[in-house]
Amino acid sequence: MSHIAPVTLVQKLAQRHAGKAPGPTPCSKRVPVSAYTDRERFEQEREALFLSRPLIIAHETQIPNPGDAIVYDWLGLPLITVRDKAGDIGTFINVCRHRGMRLVQEEGQTCLRSLVCPYHQWTYGLDGALRNIPRDESFVDLDPSDLGLVPLPTEVRNGLIWMQAEKDASMDLDAHLAGLDRDLDQFDMAGFHFCQQHVRTIDCNWKLVQDAFLDGYHVVRLHKNTVGPFFPDALAESDLIGDHTRSAVARNEIAEAVDLPEEQLDLRYHSSFSYTVFPNAVLIFHPEYTSIISLFPLSPGQTVFAHTMLTPQLPESEEQRDHFQRSFQLIDQGVFEAEDIFVSIGAQRGMLSGANDSLLFGGLEEAAVRFHDIIERELAAITHP
Ligand code: FES
Ligand SMILES: [Fe+2]
Repeated sequence: MSHIAPVTLVQKLAQRHAGKAPGPTPCSKRVPVSAYTDRERFEQEREALFLSRPLIIAHETQIPNPGDAIVYDWLGLPLITVRDKAGDIGTFINVCRHRGMRLVQEEGQTCLRSLVCPYHQWTYGLDGALRNIPRDESFVDLDPSDLGLVPLPTEVRNGLIWMQAEKDASMDLDAHLAGLDRDLDQFDMAGFHFCQQHVRTIDCNWKLVQDAFLDGYHVVRLHKNTVGPFFPDALAESDLIGDHTRSAVARNEIAEAVDLPEEQLDLRYHSSFSYTVFPNAVLIFHPEYTSIISLFPLSPGQTVFAHTMLTPQLPESEEQRDHFQRSFQLIDQGVFEAEDIFVSIGAQRGMLSGANDSLLFGGLEEAAVRFHDIIERELAAITHP
């Protein structure tokens, strides 16, 4: 399939705004509640969706200097992604090769000179190589080159660090992206800078959050006191790039776009683009900055929600720093936490009540329906190969 430029979605939105193109086809689709609450289903998703495909871990500007690292257990195994002395980024299982101690203790962002095991102080370089064994004369037949940290496939593309949590696997990032990298280029993903991040654990299934970010139906309703007034009601277009969903939601400025030639359409001004990068990330291109949301399921009802703000440049003054800080507060707490996460947690509690056997999705939620169809396809491939 030839790659359709994102501006095509803005053109469709302008036509729909002018009443020259139809909206989505009505439908009533159902997703069983068990898809969000069942433990066995959770394990299948973990294996088929999270442990065997490339995932976005961070923007590379989050760890700009040698020794900068991110330590995380979000995938159910201890991992560390670190920049080495040569500037290359690698991911390792954060476990000592001696007697298996979890190596670097503190979680989150850190800066290291080397990786020293607290137990017997075996020491590893930033490139994962084993550098020192105290009292090494007490071992026989040890080859330090066999005892480096266990590496996992890692690659930087569009400024994003991609990692696959599968030992001895090769990562086919091109196949996974299916052309998504061309869109990310248009939004200058690689040219933006890490600004700040908020990582929290929330009490709901990870797919409830994806459902919220895939639906334009709620924007003027749930967000009526925050960002809702910037948008007309449920005027959204979406399509698939591989397994990834590309969505454009019209902003009020779409009214100015109706008769504009293509080259004058502005992806961030006339519309608001978001990409659900399958399975667990959402990239949102706000007018002035970019949000990366990454979801990591800890259990059927618990999810790590990491929100990272990228800005076009590093803050150059106190005033600019304050401005970015206020924008982050508004979107991170005022919108995501108080509204999107609020309804995701509420829906999880609602499902546990037994009131519904399934959740209902209509035509304005078609992108969420497609997302669930892709998950079903992937799970069918492991349960009926
Ligand atoms: S377990 Fe790490 S040095 Fe012994
Ligand atoms: Fe929302």
